Amino acid sequence: MSGHGPVFPMTARRAGPLTGMAAVPGDKSISHRALILGALAVGETRISGLLQGQDVLDTARAMRAVGAEVTDHGGGNWSVHGVGVGGFAEPDNVIDCGNSGTGVRLIMGAMATSPITATFTGDASLRSRPMGRITAPLAQFGAQAFGRTGGRLPMTVVGAAAPVPVRYTLPVASAQVKSAVLLAGLNAMGDTVVIEPELTRDHTERMLAGFGAQVTVEDTDAGRVIAVTGFPELEPQTIVVPRDPSSAAFPVAAALIVEGSDVLVPNIGLNPTRAGLFTTLIEMGADLTFENERDEGGEPVADLRARFSPDLSGVEVPPERAPSMIDEFPILSVVAANATSKTVMRGVKELRVKESDRIDAMARGLEACGVTVDEEPDMLTVHGLGPGGVPGGATCEARLDHRIAMSFLCCGMAAKRPVGVDDASPIATSFPAFEALMSGLGAGLDRAGG
Ligand code: S3P
Repeated sequence: MSGHGPVFPMTARRAGPLTGMAAVPGDKSISHRALILGALAVGETRISGLLQGQDVLDTARAMRAVGAEVTDHGGGNWSVHGVGVGGFAEPDNVIDCGNSGTGVRLIMGAMATSPITATFTGDASLRSRPMGRITAPLAQFGAQAFGRTGGRLPMTVVGAAAPVPVRYTLPVASAQVKSAVLLAGLNAMGDTVVIEPELTRDHTERMLAGFGAQVTVEDTDAGRVIAVTGFPELEPQTIVVPRDPSSAAFPVAAALIVEGSDVLVPNIGLNPTRAGLFTTLIEMGADLTFENERDEGGEPVADLRARFSPDLSGVEVPPERAPSMIDEFPILSVVAANATSKTVMRGVKELRVKESDRIDAMARGLEACGVTVDEEPDMLTVHGLGPGGVPGGATCEARLDHRIAMSFLCCGMAAKRPVGVDDASPIATSFPAFEALMSGLGAGLDRAGG
């Protein structure tokens, strides 16, 4: 069974300062990729620090369904006994990817060049998201896809029996699309090439190289050109998953806006294709420092220290930075509401096709909390009310979106009156320990309306 359990509301109120250490879970993007590449290698891949959120558990189940042996050894330690490139078996039932766009899109890519047929579905959020962005390049390999109107799940993908390599320029800045094409290219003879005009997270390229695939990356005037050579023998790896910067964003942001706070968030992956939020927060005047900077398992890592920052001021986020902080705009808009002057976020239309329409979800919820926002198809502007200035006193819709739920709860930790979400259950997709961790820092979180 996938899904994130029964609906339950949660409310956040002002309490004392947030202090202490926030050990956030493993990186979601890297966890999905570790399971999928482990399943495509021959032999046993060992993974530590795997995110045990529902999204990743759904991917683990899907890898079992295509024949990999996936074992949970406890404490975030997992092993995957892979079946090799081209070795996926046909699943004997529908693959349910729950809430996870990354899971379904990467798995579709990984199976699209094998002669198997698989049917995919997900929860109401995932069933509303566009899959045409994946099926268009996969069709070029020779795969076929039959979904609902608008390329929505449930969808059946018939893998190509005689796949040909593809050269594909990304029409949207999407690491999921890039990754699906690269994974499909593994089982096509010759070089599959992806050109990305705007840089997106590069975990797939890094990990493919780590598993021994032949991958080249070249920066050109047309953008970054990534090529993978088909039919590699992927070698099993030992993977240490860094902690997720997208999850770190919540205790960091909460510490910046809750008076007197001082929080240390250790071991955070700071891959430059993911770190745009932290750059933006520092531009706003955040007291945020990077301690103990180092390299772990091919990814840059540091400990983040965030302290209450009473002098935050609004900024214009450059549109070219959007892909490196695409999942962090909801929590940035909460920080922006606690800054002076306005924060303008442009080039953010991809937010409309995430787990929810995140521009609309944040705009409506912030308005309900007494914050003025301006919304355009590709832009969100938040008019800051200064430190502790958000009136609050509202219950916001989470819309099956973990990051929307966590953002409004962080908002409530600093607002004058409590802020609730109608359903906190989706938080389990990426950050199952959110409630315990934030309460441990001193946050005032209450279940069921508070
Ligand atoms: C992800 C890519 C991003 C991001 C998602 C994770 C990934 O999606 O929003 O949470 O792991 O590749 P897009 O590829 O749609 O931008």
